[in-house]
Amino acid sequence: MKVILYLAFVASFAWGYPSLKDASVCKTAACMIENDCRCSSTTNPISATDAPQLIAITVSESVVATLYEDYLKPILFDRTNPDGKPIGATFYVNHEYTDYTLVQDLYLRGYEIGVHSVTKNSSQEYWRHATLEDLVEEFYGQRQIISHFANIPIEDIVGGRTPQLQLEGDLSIEAYVQSGLTYDNSWPTSSSIRLFPYTLDYKSTQECLVTMTCPTQPHEHFWIAPLTNIQGNDSIQCNSLATCNIQGSAQEIADWLIDQVDSAHQGTRAPLILRLDSYWFQFTHNSYEGFVLFLDEMSRRNDLFFVSVEDIVNWMKNPVSAANFQSTVHERYGDCAPISCSLKFLDGSERWMKSCVSCPLSYPWKGNPMGK
Ligand SMILES: *[C@@H]1O[C@H](CO)[C@@H](O)[C@H](O)[C@H]1NC(C)=O
Ligand SMILES: *[C@@H]1O[C@H](CO)[C@@H](O)[C@H](O)[C@H]1NC(C)=O
Repeated sequence: MKVILYLAFVASFAWGYPSLKDASVCKTAACMIENDCRCSSTTNPISATDAPQLIAITVSESVVATLYEDYLKPILFDRTNPDGKPIGATFYVNHEYTDYTLVQDLYLRGYEIGVHSVTKNSSQEYWRHATLEDLVEEFYGQRQIISHFANIPIEDIVGGRTPQLQLEGDLSIEAYVQSGLTYDNSWPTSSSIRLFPYTLDYKSTQECLVTMTCPTQPHEHFWIAPLTNIQGNDSIQCNSLATCNIQGSAQEIADWLIDQVDSAHQGTRAPLILRLDSYWFQFTHNSYEGFVLFLDEMSRRNDLFFVSVEDIVNWMKNPVSAANFQSTVHERYGDCAPISCSLKFLDGSERWMKSCVSCPLSYPWKGNPMGK
């Protein structure tokens, strides 16, 4: 027994982490939604013509006052779905510059708060070569930071998106699991192969793009919510509105977005994930007006709902028709005693951080999420 364990130990070093075997091919009979399992597939769990068209607006950047005041408040806050309930959206939050009093405000308004990372390090190399410990410090660290300083229950933070969409294969998934996260929203899927969210109990059929390392081993009940590409300028695939490179009048930008939704709606009605960056509004003429026009137009459709990515995963577990679909209304409570903290960063410089609870001693960071 000791010898076998020892050999397994050596093998894990020889072949890298972890030395498990690859996931087996998914058979729908063995992977039932009742058991929190779903094969990767382009098939709608119910009849596509009855299904709601779900769309998640997602933001993965620091939550700061300009984002909140200039964009979120005027664009999202007063909007409702066809059932009269407020629309949803998901914020994958990274740490630096984030104002945690605003994060709590978004949470109380019913939006989903997820994890981006602590450092949002801009080097792709960093994410490709990070160790499991690095990744857990990035994901669990940020989950702890959000929960503590925005004073929201940690169990309500379940989703993750990695910076630059760098998934490091099984290692990232393992880090998510160790961080208490249950789904990922970083893996792009082509607009012509729109996969529905699925679990990693079995082998994924999702295309692994050249810049990525994709998971190959089984991770029971861990969900992948594919980041659905749309078609940008010259029909080039893109997964962030800012990189789709569409220019034109507000109406032209709105029409382009409507076309993207129509192509999903007329097809399988796979949920769409729209990745919104504030720099799109800053650097693309008419994008703000175009996006608002698009949302106005969508609000006239009775089978289309804006929800969070978590709501999309929950719909997969309990798929109901558009006629029976109800936007999830989250009754949430939270105390916040807003305080501005002037803190020392690693390099000795000063950082401001707005918090709902008392100030830490130093600026929270990777490896020291509580700022001790
Ligand atoms: C990003 O990662 C590199 C190592 O790859 C490191 O030198 C650098 O300090 C990191 N930057 C941040 C902001 O964490
Ligand atoms: C496509 O990109 C080119 C080059 O940036 C630009 O001139 C053109 O207006 C764009 N077309 C659309 C429809 O956005």
